[in-house]
Amino acid sequence: MNIIEVKDYAEMSQKAAEYIIEKVCKSPTLNMGLATGGTPIGTYENLIADFKKNSTSYRDVTTFNLDEYVGLSGDNENSYRYFMDDHFFNHIDIKKDNTNVPCGDGNDLEEECSRYEQLIAKHGGIDLQVLGIGSNGHIGFNEPGTSFNTKTHVIDLAPSTIKANARFFNRVEDVPTKAITMGIATIMKSKEILLLVSGASKKEAMSKLLTENVSESFPASVLKNHPCVTIIADKAAVSGLKIHS
Ligand code: GLP
Repeated sequence: MNIIEVKDYAEMSQKAAEYIIEKVCKSPTLNMGLATGGTPIGTYENLIADFKKNSTSYRDVTTFNLDEYVGLSGDNENSYRYFMDDHFFNHIDIKKDNTNVPCGDGNDLEEECSRYEQLIAKHGGIDLQVLGIGSNGHIGFNEPGTSFNTKTHVIDLAPSTIKANARFFNRVEDVPTKAITMGIATIMKSKEILLLVSGASKKEAMSKLLTENVSESFPASVLKNHPCVTIIADKAAVSGLKIHS
């Protein structure tokens, strides 16, 4: 894992955007895996600013989001489809048909999981997967204990994840208790992974990632088995940790 330490959230967002822009310019038909949550918002803002200034085009880019809440339709403000449209897709030249987010409000969730997994495979897999990390080490919505062999699946959210994400909802009771998420195996098949980490609330997770063995009890640890991972982490998330051996 290549770890880049930066000053703060703003620098992490800028560096991550530069990293993505370089990839998109080199490979205009890039298949990008995308994340939601607070962490990547600044990255999307930088990508939009670059699009407006330099016209970096996403016309031929295809995106696959990591996850979606079960029970929320795409026009619900708390859905990840709405988040992505609002924070990124509506402001660049990507074709909406090329943006993929699992559908969390269909009748047959299992069918949706296999459709999504097959769709990624049909496109030749993900070239660059952007990831955040939950404070309990989850990636996508793969909570501690999730098998490393999982493909896209339905998961029960951990109480700590529901609590952490309640800040986006009016009341904690409104946070869905289930989600569809790419599996760990789906994520690990990405050719390259960019993990973004910011803030003191992620320090314990970073510490575990750097020091503990690979284990299903800490999902992000699987990234140590991936050949091409770059982590951009700010000081608050890594200060005092030994990041280079
Ligand atoms: C969320 C998402 C993840 C995200 C993580 C961290 O629940 N499902 O994809 O990376 O938790 O979120 P945040 O960036 O808001 O800390």
